[in-house]
Amino acid sequence: MKRGLFITFEGIDGAGKSTHVAWSADFLRARGITLTLTREPGGTVLGEELRELLLATQAPVHAETEALLMFSARRQHLEEVIRPALARGGCVLCDRFTDASFAYQGGGRGVEKRKLAVLEDWVHPDLQPDLTVLFDVSAEVGQARVARIKSPDRFERENAEFFVRVRDAYLERMKESPHRFVRMDGTKPIPDVQAELAQKLTLILSKWKT
Ligand code: TMP
Repeated sequence: MKRGLFITFEGIDGAGKSTHVAWSADFLRARGITLTLTREPGGTVLGEELRELLLATQAPVHAETEALLMFSARRQHLEEVIRPALARGGCVLCDRFTDASFAYQGGGRGVEKRKLAVLEDWVHPDLQPDLTVLFDVSAEVGQARVARIKSPDRFERENAEFFVRVRDAYLERMKESPHRFVRMDGTKPIPDVQAELAQKLTLILSKWKT
């Protein structure tokens, strides 16, 4: 059987990703696609427990500890959810994946890229998304949106310089793998983004089916 289709959505906090993840899931299901909608950190019982810890702990967390925990959650997610769903030939739509570790722990926190590359190679040496949609907004736009959240998490509480670095690291990652990334302007009106998304998803579906 043909391997399933692996799609990831990325972007800095406040880029508008969540709205578009839900819309894209409906779009794919409406086209008869067997869809696994999931997220990182999370997606498994252990992963969701790690998520809670990563987003809410008051304890000091070393940047490399944070990176290791993200990849621990990812290892379990791949085992329990992502790989089985792809092996069944379905589509996996994942709200964040390893690009987020390069952006947040690498760019944001300053973890060395070569160390993250070791973890990436350890945890999924043979698997990359077929399509990664990067919702791109400036750090200021992201921050202005996040400022409206009543109880921001550990990441959402970071300052503008942090998100400038995260965004830059996403854009660098996109430059390194231009074949799998598409950039969406997250400041465009929602219907415009959806029209573009529909186009990109239709294209990847047609490539996948042939
Ligand atoms: P979310 O709010 O988009 O669900 O993501 C939760 C937070 O986790 C978000 O601020 C980004 C962060 N994150 C990392 O720092 N590294 C990672 O590898 C992942 C997957 C998420």
